[in-house]
Amino acid sequence: MKIYVPLDSAAKALGADDVAATIRSQAAIRGLDVNLIRTGSRGMIWREPLVEIETDQGRVGYVAVDIADVPALLDGTLESIGLVDELDWMKGQTRLTFQRCGVIDPLSLPDYEAHGGLVGLRRAIAMTPADIVGEVTTSGLRGRGGAGFPTGIKWNTVLGAKADQKYIVCNADEGDSGTFADRMIMEGDPFTLIEGMIIAGLAVEATKGYVYLRSEYPDAIDIMDKAVVLARHAGLLGADVLGSGRSFDMEIRVGAGAYVCGEETSLLNSLEGKRGVVRAKPPLPALEGFLGKPTVVNNVISLATVPVVMEKGAQHYADFGLGRSKGTIPIQIAGNVKFGGLYETAFGMPLGDLVDKVAGGSLSGRPVKAVQVGGPLGAYMPRSKFETPFGYEEFDGQGGLIGHAGMVVFDDSIDMLGMARFAMEFCAVESCGKCTPCRIGAVRGVETIDRIGKGDTAAIELLEDLCETMKDGSLCALGGFTPFPVLSALHNFPDDFAAKKEAAE
Ligand SMILES: Cc1cc2nc3c(=O)[nH]c(=O)nc-3n(C[C@H](O)[C@H](O)[C@H](O)COP(=O)(O)O)c2cc1C
Ligand code: SF4
Repeated sequence: MKIYVPLDSAAKALGADDVAATIRSQAAIRGLDVNLIRTGSRGMIWREPLVEIETDQGRVGYVAVDIADVPALLDGTLESIGLVDELDWMKGQTRLTFQRCGVIDPLSLPDYEAHGGLVGLRRAIAMTPADIVGEVTTSGLRGRGGAGFPTGIKWNTVLGAKADQKYIVCNADEGDSGTFADRMIMEGDPFTLIEGMIIAGLAVEATKGYVYLRSEYPDAIDIMDKAVVLARHAGLLGADVLGSGRSFDMEIRVGAGAYVCGEETSLLNSLEGKRGVVRAKPPLPALEGFLGKPTVVNNVISLATVPVVMEKGAQHYADFGLGRSKGTIPIQIAGNVKFGGLYETAFGMPLGDLVDKVAGGSLSGRPVKAVQVGGPLGAYMPRSKFETPFGYEEFDGQGGLIGHAGMVVFDDSIDMLGMARFAMEFCAVESCGKCTPCRIGAVRGVETIDRIGKGDTAAIELLEDLCETMKDGSLCALGGFTPFPVLSALHNFPDDFAAKKEAAE
């Protein structure tokens, strides 16, 4: 009997480890031959721990399993939700990057290969670097870490740079509110990230890679560490990648926990053992990055998507999506929702469908008032903008951004003046201090919002002016994008600012 129990941190937080231990002990007492396999999460976080049992028809799911449910689970009397792959929520998705997550044992290379792993790498090995870069460019893959910059173009710059050493750096700092896709893939399918990094290395002629992983993710660190060792033993990493005569090796490095260390130049400083302060650009990291050498800095999802692009072909990937937002996007749904989790879909789904249909609306049952998309620097989208299709340009056109595709949903009890203040305060706390508009501007911004809260109408104009200065004058997107949540709160929910004023009067 094959039983699958997730080892994902979210599932563990909901008791998955205890459930796994109880299944083992109960099975032993009953003399049952149970093959218990730990997997990543399918992304239905609201249903964790989601235990699955293999049957002739497929894997049958049992939701929110508690240790008290284990006897019934083993007796076959626990109520199931049927075949997991046949659930509407699963069938509605297009799983490319997350095709194996929640399905395989994350640390089994044979399992990984049996589910399409390494096909992309083998194909890349037979290609020239320029052809690999061409394939990624044709796929239309854009950076999933925030800015949406085309991955192929970045790689082409690094490939064209002449140097004795080049690097691949994976940005696994994942500091945005409501985001967990990077963690989920690292915990649930680490070899896809490793494979993506090797392909990137072959493409730009880099022989060394680093994953800069946030310290707050101990499970992901543990799994990635183990996966790197296994990959090395299997000849995937090292001096002779899969017998190709090409070399690539990598290490996991743990960050110390500053939001700004997710910014690529600050990350590179931190990786070099320096203080995580943003570097002025130019030079681009692609030309002078880690230790001054040409470096690809890519987000986890960008790199973890490369294997499927190479496996299925650039055109297959590019055929999904909308306009210049090609392929799929793993949307992370959090906040006040019924069905929080990870939903991978082709770009283009309207925001409102994601909130009302996929996420099931608010958990509180009250009307949804706002959704912050793209982390702490993303705009608060009101219901009037729910028609906006999920796409980089489409969100930009509505004064928003996709960022790392995290959505945090709020019901009508939220106070938007308070949220605007929170955004400014976040910037003040997390600022690296290198430039004045951000370092001083955010502090003044909090004070100005407090003045508005006390009824000072003149301060609204001052806030708008300050936001313009931060947008135009900041060195990086921390200071430059904080005006997005602040101004979106002010412009989309003026009543929340006026109500404070009238109350004060
Ligand atoms: C303040 C700040 C924080 C950031 N945090 C992250 C992060 O946690 N993860 C990430 O991949 N990119 C983050 N970015 C974006 C990176 O600077 C960079 O654009 C990205 O790693 C490039 O990879 P991509 O092209 O694959 O998206 C951040 C940017 C800023 C300004
Ligand atoms: S905007 Fe803020 S975080 Fe970015 S460089 Fe300036 S002070 Fe540092």
